[in-house]
Amino acid sequence: MSETLKPEDTCVLVTGGAGFIGSHTVVELLNRGYRTVVVDDLSNASEVALERVREIVGEQHAANLTFYQENVLDRAALERIFTAHRIDRVIHFAGFKAVGESVTKPIEYYHNNIESTLALVDTMRAHGCKSIIFSSSSTVYGDPDNPPVTEESPKKMATNPYGWTKWMIEQILTDIHTADPNWNVVLLRYFNPIGAHESGLMGEDPKGIPNNLVPYVAQVAVGKLEAVQVFGDDYPTPDGTGVRDYIHVVDLATGHVAALNWMNGRTGVEVFNLGTGTGTSVLEVIHAFEKACGHEIPYAVKPRRAGDIAANWCDASKAEREMGWKAQFDIADMCRDSWRWQSQNPDGYRTER
Ligand code: UFG
Repeated sequence: MSETLKPEDTCVLVTGGAGFIGSHTVVELLNRGYRTVVVDDLSNASEVALERVREIVGEQHAANLTFYQENVLDRAALERIFTAHRIDRVIHFAGFKAVGESVTKPIEYYHNNIESTLALVDTMRAHGCKSIIFSSSSTVYGDPDNPPVTEESPKKMATNPYGWTKWMIEQILTDIHTADPNWNVVLLRYFNPIGAHESGLMGEDPKGIPNNLVPYVAQVAVGKLEAVQVFGDDYPTPDGTGVRDYIHVVDLATGHVAALNWMNGRTGVEVFNLGTGTGTSVLEVIHAFEKACGHEIPYAVKPRRAGDIAANWCDASKAEREMGWKAQFDIADMCRDSWRWQSQNPDGYRTER
């Protein structure tokens, strides 16, 4: 049985804690008094995100944050961190995440995502820390037969190396628990995280041209890109465009806090979907964003994108039933907060204040 710990007595290691989901989660942890250690190599994140975290939570909570600019592949660095802190729980976000890039760089994706997880769990074991929350993805459901998907819906073949790394790490962590039932593993399957912190100080900051819909729409809205390309309008969905379960990044962040609470006094492997339970089409997203920014967003229908599925949204009732967590924000809130972030920080964390 894992110990029952109060937030102020819990030291949480957050890998990838300077990234989009990681930084929002760190805010929620610090606000509740968790001692938080971030390890991030800043390869796809900015240290400015952590400065903003400190600004949002205030001096007193910020004193509970320690940052190491290290790569999770670096076992010596992990060893130093686990020696310097008595880590109670790990939230593992760090990893490469671009679906298209993973198809052209499978060796890099498997090496980075799988090897780093092995280095992490090996170090955890050596230090007697056996509680881990893993950033998994709705991608493990593949092209679902009958959305909404529940946690019992079958895992299907992944369609790209990125998806396989999520799939395999779920399996690796499950096998580790089989070998040693004292482990406490929570697999959180995220649907489509968007939105930004309501302060306008933190948000998604993709490098180059965004791959994902909402960051792309936001850059069209702010005038950095010309028009949204709608990838296909002939899907078997109400308006023919792809349907997804978009979730506000702050809801996702509080989902991690709920999982930490839930882990207290437990062992096992548990899977939770984190989504809103509502499907929204590409055109509905564009129109919601138009309302948020107050002007029209040009778009053009293009052929389907290879590897895309028609629709995926989740049944999120297990997280509510078991952990008492439920998404609070809807698509209008998500677009409002994305727009606030994008319009106040057109060049992301590189924007001069
Ligand atoms: N889309 C467009 N135009 C764009 C980008 C996307 O029309 O410029 C459409 C897509 O076709 C899809 C929807 O918008 O219908 C959402 O696409 P995203 O790229 O934003 O998100 P995906 O659902 O494709 O990908 C997300 C995560 C991945 C994860 C995947 C499967 O970003 O990490 O869900 O779960 F693997």
